Amino acid sequence: MHRATDDRAIDDAVATLRAGELVAIPTETVYGLAADASSDQAVAKIFATKGRPTGHPLIVHIASVDELSRWAATPIPETAMQLGRAFWPGPLTIIVRRSSLVSAAVTGGRDTVGIRVPDHPLTLELLRRFDGGVAAPSANRFGRVSPTTAHDVEAEFDGHVLVLDGGPCRVGVESTIVDTTVEPIVVLRPGAVTAEQIEAVLGRPVERTAQGPSRAPGMLASHYAPNATVELVDAATLEPRAEALRADGTRVVTIHPHVAVEEYARSLYGWLRAADRDGADVVLAVPPADEGLGAAVCDRLRKAAGPRS
Ligand code: TXA
Ligand code: MG
Repeated sequence: MHRATDDRAIDDAVATLRAGELVAIPTETVYGLAADASSDQAVAKIFATKGRPTGHPLIVHIASVDELSRWAATPIPETAMQLGRAFWPGPLTIIVRRSSLVSAAVTGGRDTVGIRVPDHPLTLELLRRFDGGVAAPSANRFGRVSPTTAHDVEAEFDGHVLVLDGGPCRVGVESTIVDTTVEPIVVLRPGAVTAEQIEAVLGRPVERTAQGPSRAPGMLASHYAPNATVELVDAATLEPRAEALRADGTRVVTIHPHVAVEEYARSLYGWLRAADRDGADVVLAVPPADEGLGAAVCDRLRKAAGPRS
């Protein structure tokens, strides 16, 4: 439950959205930079503030699965309804064809839209009071590490954006994205809802995007990157590699967490941000096993380690 003082903050956030301005919102995955999803002008401010290319589509966040029919074109695929009922509120974005209520600016002109119901009490209450949908990418500058605390968002935008503080994010990596407009259905981005869980609900196999360049537009190779260079190593090479780099005067931070994968996911972006604050040149990371939630962590680590433009 949220505190009485949150009530005022939610009302302020709703008023700000109604005025066509941006609000940073907490979700269970990462903080989002939100605007009224039905307003071209409001949505344009997201792209300007993030420095994000306008062709990269945004996710629309809604209050419940019952709202899906407002934002999706009919007929809504039965698979989308099944997945929404099974996993919402929760870290799953479902791609459907969009209704005319979705601003074209949200989808970069595409006729499909990604939709999800975030699992955070403050943002769910915000969405109910707003009585609309909000388009929200992660609340970071383009190509940077996603924020998992209100403080991260303030640091990212120098305090220029109103932030609804919902505490640290529980999951820590972005939602799973599943496209229900294609056959077979395909998971475009791994997240806390696994492909196996999706298959269990649908009772049939789904495709997974292969490693490498993603089919989801805007998911470039070098996403989620700190200033430091990220190198992936196995546990046995971690120490020798760190020693070799340090001998050259390189400032090295190592990530070799002896923690459960849930904790790895929740902490990863915080660790990358901390490495930048500490002035690291190189982050050496030992990835978790590439399965379940670990697949999402591995995906983000590969992108953080990917070639920079
Ligand atoms: O957990 C999350 O999903 C967070 C929180 C704030 O909800 N949001 C998030 O948004 O990660 P963003 O903008 O950083 O990533 C959204 C990605 C896009 O880069 C794109 O790859 C994919 O979602 N996407 C959105 N709409 C799409 C569409 N119509 N077709 C294909 N991919 C789409
Ligand atoms: Mg992002």
